[in-house]
Amino acid sequence: MAQLWGGRFTKETDALVDRFNASISFDRRFFVQDIEGSIAHVVMLAKQGILTKDEKDAIMKGLTGIRQDVEEGRLQITEEYEDIHSFVEANLIERIGDVGKKLHTGRSRNDQVALDMRMYIRAELLHVDELVKKLLGTLIEIMEKNTDTYMPGFTHMQKAQPVTLAHHIGAYFEMLKRDRSRLKDIYYRLNYCPLGAGALAGTTYPLDRNYTASLLGFEGPTLNSMDSVSDRDYVIEFLSALSLVMMHLSRFCEEIIIWNSDEYRFVEIDDAYSTGSSIMPQKKNPDIAELIRGKTGRVYGALMSMLTVMKGLPLAYDKDIQEDKELTFDAIDTVKDCLALFDGMIRTAQFHKEVMEKSAMTGFTNATDAADYLVGRGVPFRDAHGIIGRLVLYCIDKRCGIEDLSIEELKAISPVFEEDVYDAVSLKTCVQKRLTTGAPGPEAMKEVIAAQKEYLAKDWQDEEHIKLY
Ligand code: ARG
Repeated sequence: MAQLWGGRFTKETDALVDRFNASISFDRRFFVQDIEGSIAHVVMLAKQGILTKDEKDAIMKGLTGIRQDVEEGRLQITEEYEDIHSFVEANLIERIGDVGKKLHTGRSRNDQVALDMRMYIRAELLHVDELVKKLLGTLIEIMEKNTDTYMPGFTHMQKAQPVTLAHHIGAYFEMLKRDRSRLKDIYYRLNYCPLGAGALAGTTYPLDRNYTASLLGFEGPTLNSMDSVSDRDYVIEFLSALSLVMMHLSRFCEEIIIWNSDEYRFVEIDDAYSTGSSIMPQKKNPDIAELIRGKTGRVYGALMSMLTVMKGLPLAYDKDIQEDKELTFDAIDTVKDCLALFDGMIRTAQFHKEVMEKSAMTGFTNATDAADYLVGRGVPFRDAHGIIGRLVLYCIDKRCGIEDLSIEELKAISPVFEEDVYDAVSLKTCVQKRLTTGAPGPEAMKEVIAAQKEYLAKDWQDEEHIKLY
């Protein structure tokens, strides 16, 4: 195996060790970041007089050439190298000769990999954010069309009070908005450059770490070289934010699965996002929603793994840290797929408004409003609660709703009832009168939708943030 070390060894490494130790099969993912980091390093070395201008130009040309050749398929990243850093350096030397050996001046793979990983996650974090934002755009469209689509709201999976589809979906809008805000926090906390930390204790070369940091779009350099090479908090934070995204998608999927069942029929998932059965010809299954729910497990798993990998590590770099990559990459791929698929699934789903509305009419979703009606006529709430409870019991026996009782029947339970009770407990009134901020009443909902649209029109990168150092 082609390695960057070997001088102090008298024997070849065991073949199994090579395979076990190598990371090129997965760290090839941040090939581009590795090249960009190296270019910034070299530009800084030249500025500091550590490399001559000619040396810098030759190395930069070599690195740019390698990048182009790989991107255009003329050069393959093969597994004969230990890692992506070795691949780049070996190819550079092959391409430009001995001057290529100067690339690694004042640098270690420890700060190099810490840089690559940060840059890779920084880029992926923005991709995930874009996908969440796109999904929010889809949700707001559905919300705008459904401020008058009544449906039952549930607690304990029992019908509770009527809401609207816009309101229900608006709950997920809030969750995903928080996800974006978490991503943003993580971005600003991670955006400090570890390059220049060396193996663990900095270097004796007069590096300009502020300059390298600025070339690579970082807020500044990290301030402790031992922490710089061994910190993976940002990986854990990112996996934690991804876990929450998945938890939200999973909850939403669970509802879609229930609503898509024949018992509910609130929604029908489009054929393009459903699958069939090999034996039961009638089946159309919500596999995509189920898979998203299921894949939540592997993203949580990545978070748990990473917390465990890091928990006993002494300072500074330890090889355990190499374990940060595969599971993080898998989690990123999974979340990106799930976000894109969920977006397609919800965008094409047919909501059955009449079924939802009919369902909201049953199950005494207007019982609280009936109690509030009595309160409006001077009955203390606790007494009103008891009266309506008895009324519900009467209705269960009669198999009808509160609104189906005659005024005589109502008056028999409480003389306070008048004809206007029917309007007060109608589905429409129950929803339309809920006008506190954040409530389902269409007028309140429209204000929230307007605020959410303003939020979507903004780009979080333009907003103010707190600098750490
Ligand atoms: N492949 C290594 C990793 O991912 C790169 C750093 C290697 N450093 C070392 N001291 N062996 O962490």
